Amino acid sequence: MNTQAIRSRKRSTGGVPLVMVTAYDVAGAYFADRAGVDILLVGDSLANVMLGHRDTLHLTIGDMVRHVEAVASVSPRAHVVADLPWPTYHEGRNEAVRAGAALVRAGAQSVKLEGGAKRTDVVRALLDAEIPVMGHLGLTPQSVLTMGGYRVQAKSEEAARLLVEDARHLESLGVYSLVLEGVPASVGTLVTATLDIPTIGIGAGPDTDGQVLVFHDILGLSLGPTAKFVRRYAELGEAMTEALARYADDVRSGSFPTLAESYEIDPDEPSATSSGRTG
Ligand code: KIV
Repeated sequence: MNTQAIRSRKRSTGGVPLVMVTAYDVAGAYFADRAGVDILLVGDSLANVMLGHRDTLHLTIGDMVRHVEAVASVSPRAHVVADLPWPTYHEGRNEAVRAGAALVRAGAQSVKLEGGAKRTDVVRALLDAEIPVMGHLGLTPQSVLTMGGYRVQAKSEEAARLLVEDARHLESLGVYSLVLEGVPASVGTLVTATLDIPTIGIGAGPDTDGQVLVFHDILGLSLGPTAKFVRRYAELGEAMTEALARYADDVRSGSFPTLAESYEIDPDEPSATSSGRTG
């Protein structure tokens, strides 16, 4: 799916809600794509759920490139968008384009970045370099230090007004869609009604043009408690523990492997010299 197709998916004009899920590796990308999701986000939540960091500030462009390559290697039908990691786009236009180009060369079809009007220069630079941009407003995890934690944003009327202004501004710059994270449902509704580009919500209520969740949260693979907005569709963590414990039992009891799970000598196999020397 390309950015033009995503851009036109507004529910207000009859579009079916967009389905986005994070993906970080071959198996995740393969199964999410097979499930028919529209967009695979190689999100910087990679830092938390795959690499064990407590925030997304520890992720490097090298980490992102490696995981985008893994996701793109399954040639998904879904659109692949990748997060620009902090602080690649805080250091100026050139650095942002270099990082965006590295993600595109790794297999991303667009990049996502956090923030509104203050990102004007870098959004323009990326678009000038022909790299499509997805915006991200509301709870922006890369701002955890300045936000004072992971808190729901735009809870006051004034903050909601500023967020709508930022959203409009990003749209006017040319972003093709906008993630809205951790905002009151009424703000999700308002921003969605204000914009011509689709909004994709996570903890932003039911009215956005699409929804995104973290792969590990959906499947019961997250280690800590999950946020209120998460709906779990499977308990794969439990299933994995149970399967691996059975494997451990079988090894310890000697019931794995059986001879049927082993190789045998083949009398027809030509013998090879052990050293490979001819003399
Ligand atoms: O990195 C991520 O998982 C994200 C989503 C929460 C939107 O940016």
